[in-house]
Amino acid sequence: MLVSRRLTGARARAPLLASLLEAWCRQGRTTSSYSAFSEPSHVRALVYGNHGDPAKVIQLKNLELTAVEGSDVHVKMLAAPINPSDINMIQGNYGLLPKLPAVGGNEGVGQVIAVGSSVSGLKPGDWVIPANAGLGTWRTEAVFSEEALIGVPKDIPLQSAATLGVNPCTAYRMLVDFEQLQPGDSVIQNASNSGVGQAVIQIASALGLKTINVIRDRPDIKKLTDRLKDLGADYVLTEEELRMPETKNIFKARRNHGDLWRNGQAACNSLCEYAHF
Ligand SMILES: NC(=O)c1ccc[n+]([C@@H]2O[C@H](COP(=O)([O-])OP(=O)(O)OC[C@H]3O[C@@H](n4cnc5c(N)ncnc54)[C@H](OP(=O)(O)O)[C@@H]3O)[C@@H](O)[C@H]2O)c1
Repeated sequence: MLVSRRLTGARARAPLLASLLEAWCRQGRTTSSYSAFSEPSHVRALVYGNHGDPAKVIQLKNLELTAVEGSDVHVKMLAAPINPSDINMIQGNYGLLPKLPAVGGNEGVGQVIAVGSSVSGLKPGDWVIPANAGLGTWRTEAVFSEEALIGVPKDIPLQSAATLGVNPCTAYRMLVDFEQLQPGDSVIQNASNSGVGQAVIQIASALGLKTINVIRDRPDIKKLTDRLKDLGADYVLTEEELRMPETKNIFKARRNHGDLWRNGQAACNSLCEYAHF
């Protein structure tokens, strides 16, 4: 789902983004009051002026780039994913909604091209990610204020940098905010193959925590199980296996180690349910 020019040598079209682009081509280019102009420009953005079906309300527009002054930072986007919450935001059913018209996309990584005279924490060449949701990352370039950005190392994979701000942070907060887990403790989560779930597996592994990961059954279940184990998963179970009597033996074994069990995705959704066995 990642749109990355750097990785592929050419713009890779994620399925949804491709459909959005096609929708725009069908509708034809339009102008709006959103600093857009009718002449072609190298600064392009996927903009929505109303909430609704993303394929219908998103339009590809040329945006005018403002001059770089003071605390401004001129950024060239390198990669921006499509997170499910980006879609919810466009549909208008997300908890946080930007003022319209807005540029889509909440995550992504860009490279600093130029900085204003009062910018002290960033320099040309640095990689940056949004500090908060709602920045609008689905664009080729933009001028943002310095405080809207966070510098990140350039020696991490581009995809990791572009997807650092939402799912890994959610997974980390879920693991550290509710209990003081110790190495050897265990965590159980459903939707383990989700973006958040995969981050839980990797962060838990790095913290020395054991993970029991529940997934839905599918034809290529071994492939998915192997992939999650490669990420550091200790146990991977289908929902059906979770209900089998013999699975209780895993729980008993972990309980004998004094472990804590948690429904991770529930915590992710602020329900924070604990399951002590
Ligand atoms: N609080 C926050 O700030 C925050 C931030 C990020 C995410 N979240 C939440 O974390 C969760 C995961 O988000 P994500 O972006 O990582 O998701 P994602 O990558 O889109 O994955 C969705 C997951 O949900 C599973 N799923 C869908 N329908 C299901 C059902 N009926 N029963 C069981 N599993 C089902 C999918 O399993 P299959 O592969 O089997 O379809 C998949 O594992 C979501 O609930 C999201 O709202 C919260």
